[in-house]
Amino acid sequence: AKATQSVYFAPTSTQILFEGRPQLISVDQFSRDSVEALFRVADVMQPIARRQKISRVLEGAVLGNLFFEASTRTRVSFGAAFCRLGGSVCDTTGFTFSSMAKGESIYDTSRVMAGYVDALVVRHPEQGAVAEFARATHVPVINGGDGPGEHPSQALLDLYTIQREFSRLGKIVDGAHIAFVGDLKYGRTVHSLSKLLALYRGLKLTLIAPRGLEMPTYILDQISRNGHVVEQTPNLVEGLRGADVVYATRIQKERFADESIEGYTPDFQINQALLDRACGRDTLLMHPLPRDSRPGANDLSTDLNHDPRLAIFRQTDNGIPVRMALFAVLLGVESQVQHSMRDATWRHPAFLG
Ligand code: CP
Repeated sequence: AKATQSVYFAPTSTQILFEGRPQLISVDQFSRDSVEALFRVADVMQPIARRQKISRVLEGAVLGNLFFEASTRTRVSFGAAFCRLGGSVCDTTGFTFSSMAKGESIYDTSRVMAGYVDALVVRHPEQGAVAEFARATHVPVINGGDGPGEHPSQALLDLYTIQREFSRLGKIVDGAHIAFVGDLKYGRTVHSLSKLLALYRGLKLTLIAPRGLEMPTYILDQISRNGHVVEQTPNLVEGLRGADVVYATRIQKERFADESIEGYTPDFQINQALLDRACGRDTLLMHPLPRDSRPGANDLSTDLNHDPRLAIFRQTDNGIPVRMALFAVLLGVESQVQHSMRDATWRHPAFLG
């Protein structure tokens, strides 16, 4: 693209389209080929994410981060990814500090923001609300989590992590056994990741949830197609046996209507003793984070912090190259990234060597 051209009109060979526009609302927009094409762009971004190279390919572009629900990782890593490509970021967090508190609609908010920024990342507590933002604007909108709906960028970084870890372990995604544990009803990351995994072949998906927090039927129907074996069980030890990946999630009490968390006892917690009993030495233990460390939460135990099978911080690190790749594709600059790279003059000490 010429320097004067608006970045979001530049041509792109890898397309991520929602209703004909470059936007990301659901993993349903991906095929296996387009996921793998995106991951190749993420691989190109790795030296920038590791602070070994610099790119200013998005210099002059502005990202609007609109987060109407709590977030640490998604908001900051999208912002950091945009800045590492030379762009800058404007945020608003929570309803209180946005004019939605004064009754402004999604349509008006989205139209106004399109005049200020070149891309939007939106998190909203209602399923479907981010799609409403997307329909109201011509700039790329990325779903940063819509209530209990989807969290597509998290699922992409999770799958990218699985592929990288499997490559190190000499495994492939086709034929893998993935166990999802925890709140599968409200956990939007498991909704997106299970649908993305279903693009692969011959999987065994074990779904382990406390009573009342099982995977919604519409997701079950979607992932059961394509010949995958999908099993549901409340038995944690049996469900984890033989798993290549254990993907744990937090119980999302903030979304409960009338559910109790009966059944989510300390026996349901994933800890060192359970992992050693039920899983092998090369099982990956993943979690989208945050993990709930409050007393009685029974989320993923901190006694696993030094276990090499725990991939949670490798997942968070992978959020940067994957989100850079999303921006590059949605803004049509992915073919320019490689040419734009130069050596970093300052290196973060953690990435030297
Ligand atoms: N995984 C995730 O969405 O984390 P945040 O809520 O901190 O963004």
